[in-house]
Amino acid sequence: MSKQTVLVTGGAGYIGSHACIELLEAEYQVVVVDNLSNSKPESLRRVERITDKSLQFYEADIRDKQALAAIFNRESITAVMHFAGLKAVGESCAQPLNYYHNNVYGTLVLAEAMSEANVKQLVFSSSATVYGESASVQYAEDFPLGAINPYGRSKFMIEEILRDLSAADSVIGAQSPWKIALLRYFNPIGAHESGLIGEDPNGIPNNLMPYVSQVAIGKLEQLSVFGDDYPTHDGTGVRDYIHVVDLVKGHLKALDVLQSEKFESGGCKAYNLGTGRGYSVLEIIKTFETVTGRKVDYKIAPRRAGDLAECFANPELAYKELGWKAEKNLDDMIADTWNWQCQNPQGYV
Ligand code: NAD
Ligand code: UFG
Repeated sequence: MSKQTVLVTGGAGYIGSHACIELLEAEYQVVVVDNLSNSKPESLRRVERITDKSLQFYEADIRDKQALAAIFNRESITAVMHFAGLKAVGESCAQPLNYYHNNVYGTLVLAEAMSEANVKQLVFSSSATVYGESASVQYAEDFPLGAINPYGRSKFMIEEILRDLSAADSVIGAQSPWKIALLRYFNPIGAHESGLIGEDPNGIPNNLMPYVSQVAIGKLEQLSVFGDDYPTHDGTGVRDYIHVVDLVKGHLKALDVLQSEKFESGGCKAYNLGTGRGYSVLEIIKTFETVTGRKVDYKIAPRRAGDLAECFANPELAYKELGWKAEKNLDDMIADTWNWQCQNPQGYV
């Protein structure tokens, strides 16, 4: 027998499409809403091919309240995984209004539509970028928040809105309270092991891993390593890379917990999704070359504005409360990225 129906916003995108696979494989019914502003419907066809199951796709914008209401009316949705949003830090500095409109206003409309449909379980894609400056580079959920660019601030604002929404339940004595998980991702990379779905960035990638793999396959000439004078063990930036399949498994665990007695009286809680271990840019290049046997040509370039030296997760809370921890190592992440890249050198064309 099929489990409940989950609405996946942004389900055609990189992380959302992997979440659809995991949900379908766990026997959930899946309904996707995506405006295809940063994705192609081919990703969803491939999700169906991989799982041999079908999903319901609505091409719509989450800011379109009528469209959302119609979806909630037609489908028996019990929970939402909310991935839809814009995510490029640099672009957000140039187009702050677009980012706040898409991410913050989009989430407001979604929350209103959910409220009207009495669907109050929400798993939200937050980001480690919501953390402010701190004494330690291993971030725990109770560290001070304070994003430094419009993208990060949009995630921070959404977190605040969702915390307020949940807090209002006790003020109004809500019958069915909100149950919300704010999942703070560190650096998702990798792809489904089939190599059929993966990250398909528009134009020149901003992020390290797609850039490295496009250099390795010959699409881009040379990687710029942004800074080698950071106070890290080799001078280059250190991040907590996490396999996208591990990441989406964390979403299913979060959903289970929202539906358990732990959340019986509702709540809004943040969890880090990371491995707890950091790798430098040079370590990524070296491991990439070892795993794939390809050379990654690079040069040392100036630091990129806004980059931290080092940042990785303290993933203990997710382990303790969600029963989740990342299983895949850096070799797996790179092998799966490369498999996707080789099978789809031009992405989803
Ligand atoms: P993505 O761009 O591949 O996926 C986002 C999807 O949302 C796309 O398919 C896009 O078409 C859709 N979308 C955007 N605005 C929409 C709107 N208004 N209405 C309907 N659909 C809309 O990005 P991703 O990497 O899969 O990221 C998913 C979520 O995770 C985002 O919210 C992102 O901010 C967050 N996140 C990503 C990373 C990362 O490194 N990839 C890190 C932290 C957090
Ligand atoms: N880097 C390079 N060269 C590149 C790209 C990146 O040296 O061409 C370096 C960066 O300086 C950094 C590391 O590689 O040290 C990782 O950079 P990414 O751009 O891949 O990732 P970030 O940690 O900067 O940002 C990512 C997401 C953000 C999110 C943040 C925290 O892109 O959306 O993680 O979760 F906010």
